[in-house]
Amino acid sequence: MKTVNTNVRYAGLDLKNPIVVSSSGLTDSLHKIEILENSGAAAVVLKSIFEEQIMMDMPSISANNEIRGEKNNNSIDQFLSTNHLEKYISFISDCKKSVSIPIIASINCHTVRDWTKFAKNLENAGADAIELNVMLINTEREYKYGKVEQTNIEILKQVKKQVKIPVIMKIGREFTNLISLLNKFESNKASGIVMFNKNYSNEVDHEGVNLIPGAKLSDNGLFNQNLRWLTIASSILPSLDIAFSGAVYNGENIVKAILAGAKVTQICSTIYKNGPDFIPHMLAYLTDWMQMHNYETIDQFRGILNSPIIEDENLYQRIQFMKHFSNYEKETTKSDKELL
Ligand SMILES: Cc1cc2nc3c(=O)[nH]c(=O)nc-3n(C[C@H](O)[C@H](O)[C@H](O)COP(=O)(O)O)c2cc1C
Repeated sequence: MKTVNTNVRYAGLDLKNPIVVSSSGLTDSLHKIEILENSGAAAVVLKSIFEEQIMMDMPSISANNEIRGEKNNNSIDQFLSTNHLEKYISFISDCKKSVSIPIIASINCHTVRDWTKFAKNLENAGADAIELNVMLINTEREYKYGKVEQTNIEILKQVKKQVKIPVIMKIGREFTNLISLLNKFESNKASGIVMFNKNYSNEVDHEGVNLIPGAKLSDNGLFNQNLRWLTIASSILPSLDIAFSGAVYNGENIVKAILAGAKVTQICSTIYKNGPDFIPHMLAYLTDWMQMHNYETIDQFRGILNSPIIEDENLYQRIQFMKHFSNYEKETTKSDKELL
């Protein structure tokens, strides 16, 4: 039996396998990160620090008062009141002293302001890379098309000015011109892209009287929805390092994501549900699958199932849609009477 090598190079980082634990409560303490490392995770993305926390804590930044003024709300004041920056910096230093897997710092941001200077502190503390989770929801009635995309690009540019370590962009799925945005990220030297962040969702409570937060963990269906864009993006932009994220629940999903063009997968909900001990099972599935299919390295099968490069991608996708739904009635065993 051939030995398999699961090493991958993602966003300028050499990783022992394609499993990166996503930014979340799973990565908010050294103890948890040590457990993840011992379980086999190849890298971790630290729980995000928020742009608002940075702006609040950086003494030289005049916009501090502006934020307090804007959000005159007790819960936000409480959330912003402790010294997050020092804690975050010493958290990174502690991680670097104690674990050997790459540590990716994370900033949740939405504007191009002075917080971008803080990226330098993350680099100085030893972060191996920075992931920028641009969480920006636009509700302007008179919206200038392209403004959100431009903000994303400007944030990347400003952070790149501050640091030499890799900068990775984590984005949501709701872009009209996703491929064009990814292309711009690449030309502005983003080292990697995380596709996709999970949206905050809403739910109506059982009594139907309150709007409440939706489920925090991903459901399985998200994987296939995200996979569609992965196949397209990885075929059109083959040199982009993509971390696939969203309901990567098991080893089979990891294999599928790599076949569709991902460099690595980011996992979160599955660890909340199954615990870090599940990582070795995911890795075992990957290596068994590689052995069964005679692949010695990940590169040998990455992207072999991505979308074919064709001139009219839109037409291709429309045909897939037509094919997919037109035969539903024939495939189902139900009679017309039952269906109607
Ligand atoms: C409890 C929880 C906390 C999270 N916190 C962060 C965060 O601080 N920063 C971030 O970029 N994403 C955060 N996320 C999103 C995850 O990193 C990930 O992108 C998302 O959950 C989709 O991956 P999954 O389907 O494997 O869960 C969080 C997710 C969960 C469930």
